[in-house]
Amino acid sequence: MRRTLVAANWKMNGSKDLVQSLIGELREPLSSLDNGVGVVIIPPALYVSDVSERLAGTSLALGVQNIARWDSGAYTGEIAAAMVADAGARYTLIGHSERRQLFGETDDDVAEKVQQALNSKLTVILCVGETLEERQGGLAGQVVRNQISRGLAGVSGQGWQSVVIAYEPVWAIGTGKTATSDDAQAMHREIRSLLAELGAPADDVSLLYGGSVKPDNAAALFAQPDIDGGLIGGASLNAQDFIRICQSA
Ligand code: 13P
Repeated sequence: MRRTLVAANWKMNGSKDLVQSLIGELREPLSSLDNGVGVVIIPPALYVSDVSERLAGTSLALGVQNIARWDSGAYTGEIAAAMVADAGARYTLIGHSERRQLFGETDDDVAEKVQQALNSKLTVILCVGETLEERQGGLAGQVVRNQISRGLAGVSGQGWQSVVIAYEPVWAIGTGKTATSDDAQAMHREIRSLLAELGAPADDVSLLYGGSVKPDNAAALFAQPDIDGGLIGGASLNAQDFIRICQSA
């Protein structure tokens, strides 16, 4: 179902102390938000259980940053979708640009992970986005279309209910540069038409924007008709900034 979501991607940051202090500061203000926004906290997998304990009794949901392409077995260092669900998380990022760029994840890997997530009843947050070179070469739309159509090739029917897409232009991640709200809206519109072409219930799929979202640019981005919230990196590690972003959704 299309709903407004704001997700906090902590990336490889945090500690038990941070879980205690940050979730402690977020719990009350985010539980009492009256704008209907769903909040998802996505810590490093090792802290999922600690965050889960700290979130007990709130409406905040929990996710992980990556899952394995396989069910179970001899895959040292990997974490299966079923384990993520077992630990109490409901969402998983898949295909974040850092995974694609630093770990060589391909669209085929992404498609396999999407299947794993859906099999374990996790909601997928599929991350897509073009590099600066691709944008300057006029390829942004095509790159994003390919990532979505290949990554979601195995999704059909009810599966679409468990898919969220996060458009994160690579050049905007951690750089302080953000797409203008008009450019972000244009790409989100294009993603929604692609979803319709793919046979998805396009108006029901939540589309998030990510890349240097801060308290001072969040409201303008979230006000766009096809932007249903955000995937927040750096600013999600600061309680006051993250609360302000969630309030503007
Ligand atoms: P920043 O908000 O730090 O730019 O990170 C965005 C991101 O990659 C979230 O997944």
